[in-house]
Amino acid sequence: MTRATLVRMVGAMLALTVVISVVMLQFDWNGVAGSTEADEIDLLLDVMIVLSSFVYSIVLVMLGYSIWRYRAKPGDESDGEPIHGNTKLEIAWTMIPTVIVLTAAAYSWVILDRIEAREPDRLQVDVTAQQFAWRFEYPDQQVTSTELHVPVDRQVEFSMQALDVIHSFWVPEWRMKKDVVPGLTTHITATPDREGNYSVVCTELCGIGHATMRAPVVVETQEEFDAWIAEQEGEEGAGGAGGPAGEAGGAAEEPSEEAAAGEQIFTESGCSGCHTLAAAGSTADIGPDLDEVLAQRTPDEIEQSIVDPDSQLSPGFGAGIMPDTFSDSLDEEQLKALVAYLTDSTAGTK
Ligand code: CUA
Repeated sequence: MTRATLVRMVGAMLALTVVISVVMLQFDWNGVAGSTEADEIDLLLDVMIVLSSFVYSIVLVMLGYSIWRYRAKPGDESDGEPIHGNTKLEIAWTMIPTVIVLTAAAYSWVILDRIEAREPDRLQVDVTAQQFAWRFEYPDQQVTSTELHVPVDRQVEFSMQALDVIHSFWVPEWRMKKDVVPGLTTHITATPDREGNYSVVCTELCGIGHATMRAPVVVETQEEFDAWIAEQEGEEGAGGAGGPAGEAGGAAEEPSEEAAAGEQIFTESGCSGCHTLAAAGSTADIGPDLDEVLAQRTPDEIEQSIVDPDSQLSPGFGAGIMPDTFSDSLDEEQLKALVAYLTDSTAGTK
């Protein structure tokens, strides 16, 4: 290969890199960016696209050149020349990828270091994942919710635990994603910088209800967030030293205290993620329709079905699908409230 050929090939590689990069960068790969981390990650992705385009161009140009330069002459049926070793070529094809990979690794490390830095005034949220629901606790505010509310422009640290199998926490617009693993507490931070409604999406296949394992995310102003916290405190404070009173649950008829507690346990424990129950407004169909199957059941039978789900299966629903962890995750009082709520709300629904 002459020097002129080499120069021409390098020129072709660079030109092809530019063309492929320009085309690939036209796509909005990740959609709306809703956090400061998202901007960093999108930039990192763009850099990786350009690097990959460069590698791809090297391969394409070398391949094209080899096919053209070493093609067989018509009628030539002989074997190719035996070749053994080319030190210069081997050094080149080792060094070039090494430099590219190290550059990518160093740049990724810089970005990771930046997006994982903890701010001193961050908001703490404890996340519990279970088949097939998310629960969010605000330890400093003493509030628990199945919706994730966060103020805009403030870093949030999520400390995450799973009750059964591996789940994965992901808000696509924030770009941040991390597995939630039973027996471990994993941490992730995000700094939402765009108000609006989003979703936490479970992005680790965790069972039959995986696709429905989502939770609403609301990014709002600090004032709106404070008001929401106050409202939650008002709801939870029934019977205790409650915070400022908010509008209660929105139900038209006044529910009894135990029923209200039962309904809260029902949604927070993830039951509404799988079951239909008119009283709780849930319409999921992964598990049996509770309005139908619980109508004729005694409280004891309902309790049995919660703590040992496989002991009585409804037709059409297999064993091992409903988590059998509720005897651990609910204390006696919670279990009693849940059973009472289910008994009352399904009595005579069939
Ligand atoms: Cu939880 Cu998928």
